Amino acid sequence: MQKADHENISVKSGQTIQVFAPATIANLVCGFDILGMALNNPHDVMKLTLSNQPGIRIVHNDTYNLPTTPEQNVAGVALLDLLYEVKGEYGFDLIIEKHIKPGSGLGSSAASAAGAVVAANKLLGNIFSNEDLVRFAMAGEKLASGVKHADNISPGIYGGITLIRSIFPLDIISLPAPPLFVAVVHPQIEVKTSDAREILRKEVALKDAIKQWGNIAGLVAGFMKKDYGLISRSLEDVIIEPVRSMLIPGFDEVKQKSMYAGALGGGISGSGPSIFMLCENEETALTVEKIMKSIYEGMHLKNYTYVTTINHEGIKAVMV
Ligand code: HSE
Repeated sequence: MQKADHENISVKSGQTIQVFAPATIANLVCGFDILGMALNNPHDVMKLTLSNQPGIRIVHNDTYNLPTTPEQNVAGVALLDLLYEVKGEYGFDLIIEKHIKPGSGLGSSAASAAGAVVAANKLLGNIFSNEDLVRFAMAGEKLASGVKHADNISPGIYGGITLIRSIFPLDIISLPAPPLFVAVVHPQIEVKTSDAREILRKEVALKDAIKQWGNIAGLVAGFMKKDYGLISRSLEDVIIEPVRSMLIPGFDEVKQKSMYAGALGGGISGSGPSIFMLCENEETALTVEKIMKSIYEGMHLKNYTYVTTINHEGIKAVMV
């Protein structure tokens, strides 16, 4: 393994960086494991300090009771993978303040893992490429869900909408997009990504695969051509959604009523339970948000909603 060399770059122990790591929507309905979008709201806030003392020390400044042992923490394992490729003896002190609820389907684990490695790279003088950072952060996804996938991590690191054509080897493509407003509801039930993956069928009928390929290609073309009609027609998932939507009470009603109110389309955010709807303008997104809220309030199910836009910048880092 070639170690990344930063001997010519001034690396200061004791230096701290603060990062804002955005929530992300993986899959974007038809693109299971290969499409993702970064959002402007919510985001996690993290502070990372470079230390001469080897090892990683993690403090969680939130109420989620997540493990702080580096080997059991998604940010910790990502940083360990990164440190393994750095020349010299360094360590990190990490403070995580989560605002993206774990298990929400909004890329909470990816935000922690990606935020940590982006911050580390800045402190080390940008010795790694974005692809390297995705590779390190995927260790966090493996820990969280049992499998490496990059559809939350990539949009977090690159910003905007990303297509992950392949993860071995990594081939990540940033896609342009027309202005979009995103209405999100997070009903307060827990869906573990590992469980939501476990229930999926392992084989797909050819006719379903053909429909899905058409939709993925259509969605990518729709983003590139800024064609709202094509985006809307392509937001259809005949493989994953029919299985996973059974885990989310109210899913069909949210989708049906949101579409009736003028949403372009949407579905399960990542592995759920959050549901997102893409809209052409803010007014429609605010109407959809109200509909989402009223459905879950009718079910007496606590929920959080957001109306937000695409985060084109990705993880933001500021020296403090
Ligand atoms: N693509 C992954 C899944 C995202 O749907 O299982 C999990 O956040």
